[in-house]
Amino acid sequence: MTVPVLPSFWVVIPAAGVGSRMRADRPKQYLSLAGKTIIEHTLDCFLGHPGLLGLVVSLAVQDPYWPQLGCAADPRIQRADGGAERADSVLSGLRHASTLGARDDDWVLVHDAARPNLSRDDLDKLLVDLADDPVGGLLAVAAHDTLKRAGADGRVQETVDRSVIWQAFTPQMFRLGALRNALAGALGAGVAITDEASALEWAGHRPALVQGRADNLKVTRPEDLQWLEQRWRS
Ligand code: CTP
Ligand code: MG
Repeated sequence: MTVPVLPSFWVVIPAAGVGSRMRADRPKQYLSLAGKTIIEHTLDCFLGHPGLLGLVVSLAVQDPYWPQLGCAADPRIQRADGGAERADSVLSGLRHASTLGARDDDWVLVHDAARPNLSRDDLDKLLVDLADDPVGGLLAVAAHDTLKRAGADGRVQETVDRSVIWQAFTPQMFRLGALRNALAGALGAGVAITDEASALEWAGHRPALVQGRADNLKVTRPEDLQWLEQRWRS
């Protein structure tokens, strides 16, 4: 049996959000989950990987929480300044990776700080599936509930064909130069960009969807954190 060769990669972690939907006393990436902060769990999955070339976290300019974490002193982790929107934070992180020696044709994985339950199996699946892909792609989950399109009155307008609908997760894996140019171009054109794939789509590419685990969820609301806490306790 041949063992697949995993490509080496850089990681950019956007972590400059305020977590308004969590309604907590601090940005959600610094909330505690099973004895560590959420962002420390998120980083662990990458720091333990032999293919890691370097990691950039994009942080709010005046972030009082990061310097208190042990990982702030880890030489493999560098910080960049976050921006007003997630896409600005990602672009800043990509540019910083270039100053650290990342090349335009290197793979870069962008992963939300608030997504602490990424499994090593999913990470390796993404790397293996996309290793030879000309564009790159993302972990995603095929929609499994029946989907409705709502009207302005809050009532169902129609049932949508769910077989072609996927939820976009992270990590999203692209070539650094292509992603930076797509993000810069889309932001410059005033296009709303909510993930890296949408920037590549704007640039005319068709990122690959790699089926991932549904429990790689982004902590968004208080119940997401409660769910992860219960799961990790059992
Ligand atoms: N993020 C970022 N820079 C921003 C906004 C968001 O780096 N200007 C990061 C967040 O820290 C998070 C990820 O992008 O890790 C996903 O964003 P989201 O879940 O929307 O986080 P927040 O913006 O912090 O939350 P909310 O939208 O509820 O305020
Ligand atoms: Mg947000």
